[in-house]
Amino acid sequence: MAKLIDGKKISQEIKDELKEKVVALKAEGKTGALAVIQVGEDPASSVYVRNKKNACAYIGIESLAYELPESTTEEELLKLIEELNEKEKVRGILVQLPLPSHICEDKVIQAISPEKDVDGFHPQSVGAMTIGEKSFLSCTPSGIIQLLKRSGVEIEGKHCVVIGRSNIVGKPMALLMLRENATVTIAHSRTKNLPELCKQADILIVAIGKPRFIGAEYVKEGAVVIDVGIHRDENNKLCGDVKFDEVEPIASAITPVPGGVGPMTIAMLMSNCVQSIEEKRR
Ligand code: GUN
Repeated sequence: MAKLIDGKKISQEIKDELKEKVVALKAEGKTGALAVIQVGEDPASSVYVRNKKNACAYIGIESLAYELPESTTEEELLKLIEELNEKEKVRGILVQLPLPSHICEDKVIQAISPEKDVDGFHPQSVGAMTIGEKSFLSCTPSGIIQLLKRSGVEIEGKHCVVIGRSNIVGKPMALLMLRENATVTIAHSRTKNLPELCKQADILIVAIGKPRFIGAEYVKEGAVVIDVGIHRDENNKLCGDVKFDEVEPIASAITPVPGGVGPMTIAMLMSNCVQSIEEKRR
């Protein structure tokens, strides 16, 4: 039976550490706010945005909510970002993705000042991460690193297979695992012999976006399995990209869905916000 990697508990630990840090920073006169922008009313995005605001309140930093109508133009959004870039008290700017199709996401991401890019999506942040310079790290991948480290999973020298090559998860995940001295393979929709390849992984990180796709035939006995997916199945029950019931008996450790990777993304966003407040030049 696999050890359950408890993202809820680990994210709570991180938020409690951050809460203490915020108190100490306030005592030094260092404060700041996170601006959270949502365009439109996608229900999933609304849940994420609400959770982000609640997390800010929990650790003791201010959040500024911008809930804009679906009809907002790209120009209007870029203008708001420009204003927030200039605002001294705003230390982080987060634009919830996906954006409506009439707005270019790349343009919006690139408009955010790298100093306030707490999502770690700006090309400057990604470039810095790639060459190992200090930057804001993309929250889901850095949350997974924390999950592994805080669960006592050794990364160095291990073969890690990352399934998925998105800019938000797969690519930065592979780079962060490389930085931790894993041997990394990135698999994707065109990869040949996916089950055989995955079966070689000591650590299998699954971010394909297909409900219950990865079964026992993909997993080596004793592997650590990290499931990034989150979906609602036909019975409205939350599930991941992994067939949990089938894989759990084979793995040595596995993340559940919900309660695995999900809560870590927000904890790491909070960590980036605190880092931004801490590093503010005065
Ligand atoms: N949409 C899904 N995940 C994320 C995330 O980590 N950040 C933002 N801004 N939007 C998202």
